[in-house]
Amino acid sequence: MAVSINIPVEVVDILKSSQFAAVLTGAGISAESGVPTFRDAQTGLWAKYDPLQLATPEAFQNDPQLVWDWYLWRRELISGSQPNPGHLALVDLEAFFPEFTLITQNVDGLHQSAGSMGVIELHGNIFRTKCSRDGRIISDPREPSGSVPLCPECSSYLRPDVVWFGENLPADTLKTALEAARVCEVFISIGTSTLVEPSASLPFFALDNGATVLEINPQSTPLTQRASFSIRGDAGEILPALADEIIN
Ligand code: OAD
Repeated sequence: MAVSINIPVEVVDILKSSQFAAVLTGAGISAESGVPTFRDAQTGLWAKYDPLQLATPEAFQNDPQLVWDWYLWRRELISGSQPNPGHLALVDLEAFFPEFTLITQNVDGLHQSAGSMGVIELHGNIFRTKCSRDGRIISDPREPSGSVPLCPECSSYLRPDVVWFGENLPADTLKTALEAARVCEVFISIGTSTLVEPSASLPFFALDNGATVLEINPQSTPLTQRASFSIRGDAGEILPALADEIIN
């Protein structure tokens, strides 16, 4: 049975009359593609795995093979997934707004697979590999297997080009995201627990700078109380309905 989604008329009106939209996505937008989130009880990755043993520079130093293998497993899982209707609706919204910035915390590349352009990847991309010594991006065989590969320049270990706990976000990427949050008229926060900084501050920064902030999430988050509008539900259902209302 088709579920009817009610998008508040005020939300439709504001989006329709806005020139500049910024969107922040988190793991929730890829959940319906079969990519696990991090903090959902039972199904989230951090419910099963300890981030301190897998997603920090120290973890990689202590046991590079364990960390490499875990990221290899996640790559394989993501490789078998496809963009869902939520990702696709964002491609339509990008075409609708004169100015549109898509910022993601996801490392899965599913926005790009859907056709989104110029995606700002705050936490890197799991399919890229870099030298663990100097951070130089090394073009990566997509399916490296066995032992941790070595940098062809300096023989240090290669590592996934993702941001680990305790590391800074790429400065230029963060700057672009902050600027979009500062100048946008509407900011849509989708499928993120709004807990991990500095990404979590972006919607509040947008609010402080006068934007209308819309949250789309089946659960409440620290943003929910302050957001201008909060729509509870799955991104794969809400976003196509929203795009349909705005564009058609
Ligand atoms: P979380 O796992 O913290 O939060 C996922 C959010 O998605 C939750 O608020 C869920 O309620 C929501 N959600 C679940 N299913 C959804 C659906 N179908 N549609 C919409 N929302 C849904 O993931 P993030 O907020 O992305 O960082 O986590 C931020 C960062 O923490 C990640 O980028 C990762 C992690 O540690 C690094 O690895 C550096």
